[in-house]
Amino acid sequence: MEQETNGMELLLDSAETRELLEKTRPYMEMMMQYNAALREIRTKFEVLDDEFSVRYNRNPVETIKTRVKKPLSIHEKLRRKGLSMSVESIRSGITDVAGIRVICSFVEDIYALSDMLLQQDDLRLLRRKDYIAKPKENGYRSLHLIVEVPIFLTDRKEYIPVEVQLRTIAMDFWASLEHKLKYKKDIREAEAIAAELAICAEQVASLDLHMQQIHKRIEHEN
Ligand code: GTP
Ligand code: MG
Repeated sequence: MEQETNGMELLLDSAETRELLEKTRPYMEMMMQYNAALREIRTKFEVLDDEFSVRYNRNPVETIKTRVKKPLSIHEKLRRKGLSMSVESIRSGITDVAGIRVICSFVEDIYALSDMLLQQDDLRLLRRKDYIAKPKENGYRSLHLIVEVPIFLTDRKEYIPVEVQLRTIAMDFWASLEHKLKYKKDIREAEAIAAELAICAEQVASLDLHMQQIHKRIEHEN
């Protein structure tokens, strides 16, 4: 009986395809490692959240979001930094290929989680930026950490950088809207909107503080 074919076998067999696969392999391998590092660090936060819940009967983590930077954004960032498009320059020049965002209800939980994470002796802290204590001029608030997470491969251990952003629900709400302004070109009212967002950022900060105080009062009732 005649074998059905859709032509894929021919394509996979061609020297060009094999060469292409060989060329992209280091990139695929690297992205696999960033994904693995994200899984490791997500688990760390989930474990902390679970233990917190058993001990104190509440969950400090509201949501966890992870993302790996898209090839186009990697390309743009390398160009901005004057680096060539290679696995080596991605490794040495970009620390936010892997990103995790941990969204909490209360500001105090952000610092508690960050301290608990950084106490773990397999992690290395590369950088810490506290945009809550010192907000950006536009009003942006979050705690940023760049950590290196060990991942265990078939024959070795690699430390992979991950950007961790910790923020409250309200800060996240603000940052999503502000992000739209930043990345949308030619907004006529841009300046006026930025000024209003700056006011909203102050309101977010005072709301966060107020919610934290109310939460404490409720806890003390019990
Ligand atoms: P990037 O080159 O943009 O990654 O900045 P950086 O290397 O100086 O790092 P920084 O810690 O300042 O910011 C890292 C990330 O935080 C950004 O990629 C955004 O996801 C977020 N971020 C920082 N500043 C702002 C801001 O003003 N508005 C919003 N919406 N997000 C911000
Ligand atoms: Mg970034």
